[in-house]
Amino acid sequence: MFAVIEGIEGSGKSTLQAGLAEALRARGRNVTTTREPGGSPLGDAIRTLFLAPGPPIDSVAEAMLVNAARAQHIAALIRPALQRGEVVLCDRFVDSTLAYQGYGRGLDLRMLRSLCSLAVGTLAADVTILLDCEPNLSRHRLAERGAARDRLESENLDFYERVRGGFLTIARESTRHVVLNGSDSREALVAAALSAIEGMEAHV
Ligand SMILES: Nc1ncnc2c1ncn2[C@@H]1O[C@H](COP(=O)(O)OP(=O)(O)O)[C@@H](O)[C@H]1O
Ligand SMILES: [Mg+2]
Repeated sequence: MFAVIEGIEGSGKSTLQAGLAEALRARGRNVTTTREPGGSPLGDAIRTLFLAPGPPIDSVAEAMLVNAARAQHIAALIRPALQRGEVVLCDRFVDSTLAYQGYGRGLDLRMLRSLCSLAVGTLAADVTILLDCEPNLSRHRLAERGAARDRLESENLDFYERVRGGFLTIARESTRHVVLNGSDSREALVAAALSAIEGMEAHV
């Protein structure tokens, strides 16, 4: 079972991933948690480049960096864990590239989809849980978290509205996406995500 959690910064992805992993483990499942970009030494190095504040990174370069990390992540970590029969919970995947570089930065979606398909091959998420979240709520939460903003977190609210809309459009066009309200309680979100995963497993 390959389950992906998507949403803008501060929508609660990491929090949900941790709660979900705990709930699944309590049910006796073997769970691997991971995130994009990351999941391998190469991926972590790319993550550092990707998020470090600094001069603008060209959008195409950004899309290629994240897909290079993705290909390595799949080969080194995701595929092997799936082959061992584990549940893989991944914080961000292809939808983030489409939402940020496509809907957010304005790159051509067809070009992006083919770039992503080169990176993922035949792998697709069995279920994607989208934490829909108003950019204002996300801003507020990130401010409370108190950490310095990274490169993407420094984008303006318009950018986040476009990214949010992109995620929702992708989810609407799919039967393997479940949209949850990121402002719900942690407990409610874990329960809803768990039932989405178990519901999808019953169909595969
Ligand atoms: N359902 C929730 N209700 C209230 N606060 C939340 C919820 N989920 C996450 N948070 C808080 O919001 C902030 C961002 O959450 P986080 O999981 O780090 O988001 P993301 O990984 O999507 O950036 C954290 O301070 C976290 O404690
Ligand atoms: Mg996070």
